[in-house]
Amino acid sequence: MPRKPARGALITLEGVEGSGKTTQGRRLLARLRCLGLSVIWTREPGGARISERIRRILLDRRHREMGANAEMLLYLAARAQNVEQLIAPALHQGTIVICDRFSDATCAYQGGGRAIPMPTVTSLNRFATGGLKPDLTLFFDLSPEEGFRRLGRRGRRRLDRLEVEQAAFYRRVRKSYVALAEREPGRVKRLSASGSPEEVQDRVLEMVEPFLRRRGFLKTGALRPS
Ligand code: TMP
Repeated sequence: MPRKPARGALITLEGVEGSGKTTQGRRLLARLRCLGLSVIWTREPGGARISERIRRILLDRRHREMGANAEMLLYLAARAQNVEQLIAPALHQGTIVICDRFSDATCAYQGGGRAIPMPTVTSLNRFATGGLKPDLTLFFDLSPEEGFRRLGRRGRRRLDRLEVEQAAFYRRVRKSYVALAEREPGRVKRLSASGSPEEVQDRVLEMVEPFLRRRGFLKTGALRPS
């Protein structure tokens, strides 16, 4: 079994709806587990039990009257609980945490999408996370139009409260993600989410491998099948 570094690593996955980040997160989890690494997957809003209950309130289509401030505070409440109960203890034990969305989603959706002033979003995010920042963020970039075409093709479930928002909202969200990737290129890696799941997975592993090696989780380039 590979030796566990003293602190784990927080890898977050971001992108607009239909960008495939959830599928890719699951694949990454399986791949890292195959290598014998200690790794968990969680999501936001959600993860911890209370956070999953908050998720249900947030995504309920009937809650049309929800204001932007209440919405943001609910995302942050869900995050605070998930960090305290699940993410921070796992990192403390040296575990790698893959989190499907995290604080950057609040910057992109509430800051960019809902136009809540960024300094407010940033300082409340810091309060909710206790200052915890992702070590690596993969931004799955796809036009919102293509994302929704994909969701439609999957014939998945009915669209949730946020998915029925207008296209302009999602264009602002994407623009914020792009700006974040430009502002923090060391942490936020932008990758194209178009193509087959296998092609995207290859791009994911290409970015995760050097990171894990740098952090002492991988001794060789064993992540990608040769
Ligand atoms: P999901 O589609 O990844 O399950 O995420 C649920 C929705 O919540 C998605 O539309 C993005 C939105 N969201 C925010 O608006 N702010 C946040 O902080 C998070 C974590 C998600």
